[in-house]
Amino acid sequence: MEIKGQTAFVTGGASGLGEATARMMAAAGATVGVLDMNEELAQKVANELGGAAAVCDVSDAASHEAAMASLRQAIGPARIFIACAGIATGAKLVTRDGDPTPLDRLTKAIQVNLIGTINSLRLAAADMAGLAPLDDGERGVIVTTSSIAGFEGQIGQGDYSASKGGVAATALTFARELAREGIRVNCISPGLMDTPMMDGLPDEVRQSLIETTVYPKRLGHAGEYAALARHIAENRYINGTVIRLDGALRMAPR
Ligand SMILES: NC(=O)c1ccc[n+]([C@@H]2O[C@H](COP(=O)([O-])OP(=O)(O)OC[C@H]3O[C@@H](n4cnc5c(N)ncnc54)[C@H](O)[C@@H]3O)[C@@H](O)[C@H]2O)c1
Repeated sequence: MEIKGQTAFVTGGASGLGEATARMMAAAGATVGVLDMNEELAQKVANELGGAAAVCDVSDAASHEAAMASLRQAIGPARIFIACAGIATGAKLVTRDGDPTPLDRLTKAIQVNLIGTINSLRLAAADMAGLAPLDDGERGVIVTTSSIAGFEGQIGQGDYSASKGGVAATALTFARELAREGIRVNCISPGLMDTPMMDGLPDEVRQSLIETTVYPKRLGHAGEYAALARHIAENRYINGTVIRLDGALRMAPR
């Protein structure tokens, strides 16, 4: 779809990949809605882009519904929806003391990254289905964010892998489900991207992951994610797929 003149909502739009995508969508001529837990940064990005912000916990039904309603009222429903909100977690099944890890430590990532994404998609899809069709009957386009950890998770990443594997697995399923409405669903699976999420990574881990990356030997830039999200929005024949964005990195077990 031509992005110019459309409304684009971005979850996690206050930081990192989501922020870069919000900026990219605005540069392409969209009116942008920023959904994020971080109210201050979300408002800052929205103000800079002439868009609107809504504070929201994507994993909470009522919070997400209210934020969508507020953005709908401010700038209209979205034809383009990019789901970037997410958290990085890590926990092994068994603690160092030999005890089973408390279940809530193992389900947090699934709650935010997977259930949060599904929560976003149900709300985005319902809005898009009510819009008039464009060329090729297209009503909307959705991009979700997995991770290469959803395919080759490292030791201690099982919870995060489960959440991101689920996001990747559902791209085709939801594309099939929403085809009748003319809504495309695709997923980007990033490798190691240089965003605030990576700030906590110890230097030696970061260096070893850069060494494992085939080419280019560096972290990915948020702008490279945003450029791919933009291309997916514009290219009507990309549907139901997961695209890796990782410099051919295949993570080792540890
Ligand atoms: N940076 C990487 O290397 C990398 C790699 C693979 C996948 N990812 C995924 O990309 C997405 C974006 O990550 P990023 O690197 O830009 O991180 P980031 O921390 O810079 O941005 C994430 C944003 O999501 C928001 N957020 C977190 N939980 C939320 C919730 N429950 N409701 C609403 N907003 C919430 C945060 O406030 C933040 O603004 C995440 O889903 C992450 O798992 C990142």
